Amino acid sequence: MLAPLDQFVATLDAFRVAGGCGVNVTVPFKREAYHYATEHTPRAAEAAAANTLRFEIASAEPRIIADNTDGVGLVRDIGINLGRTISKKRILLLGAGGAAHGVMGALRGEKPHSITIHNRTTDKAHELAGQFSSMTGGVAIDVVESRELAARQFDIVINATAAGLYNSLPLVPETVFADDCLAYDMVYGKATPFLALAAKAGATTADGLGMLVEQAAEAFYFWRGVRPQTGPVIAALRLPQS
Ligand code: ATR
Repeated sequence: MLAPLDQFVATLDAFRVAGGCGVNVTVPFKREAYHYATEHTPRAAEAAAANTLRFEIASAEPRIIADNTDGVGLVRDIGINLGRTISKKRILLLGAGGAAHGVMGALRGEKPHSITIHNRTTDKAHELAGQFSSMTGGVAIDVVESRELAARQFDIVINATAAGLYNSLPLVPETVFADDCLAYDMVYGKATPFLALAAKAGATTADGLGMLVEQAAEAFYFWRGVRPQTGPVIAALRLPQS
């Protein structure tokens, strides 16, 4: 459903009245989805953003429960589908919007060496770091400005900015990609300038299609208690469309 930008709530209300039991929500409505809910899972509360809602209308008090499956989706795609370890790795997270908020908790849970946040608007990066560094559990979380990036290298660079959607590039020097680096763009279905830069610098590249499928599978589990197999879905989606 394509909700008009100013009618997210009206669109969801109508869907619920028509018998809808849950939704998967994407940009730019993840924060609105969080506020639409009456309850939040811990990971949605931590992210203050939701990509999954479940409506429980049968009870006397209708409940709307928000979850956020983006983080687990990203971590499973990197760890299982791409076969990469996150533990002890130096991560650079580009962006500080809803997408970045959604994955911070799950990334930190994998116990990387560090998570460094870089965002065009540095204040927002500090806000995001502050939100998560009070509960780091041994993971170093810091913010880096553009000019400092030239002196740093990372094992996993994740683009959580919306830049790729507009065909533009978040500003990173090609030296940020360490040997055997994984460059991951959450955008899917298009060759982004970020992945082109990473490939040129010798990094292994991945788009966000696997994350899309993994977060959807986890949402399905949240609704129905059954976790679908994701491998065949990803393979089918990667087949050239006729
Ligand atoms: P989302 O929910 O998809 O994260 P958002 O909350 O609007 O959407 O955040 C978009 C992110 O992409 C922000 O980090 C934004 O940077 P600013 O905080 O400086 O706005 C980033 N972004 C969008 N377009 C960008 C571009 N062309 N270059 C670099 N960063 C960009």
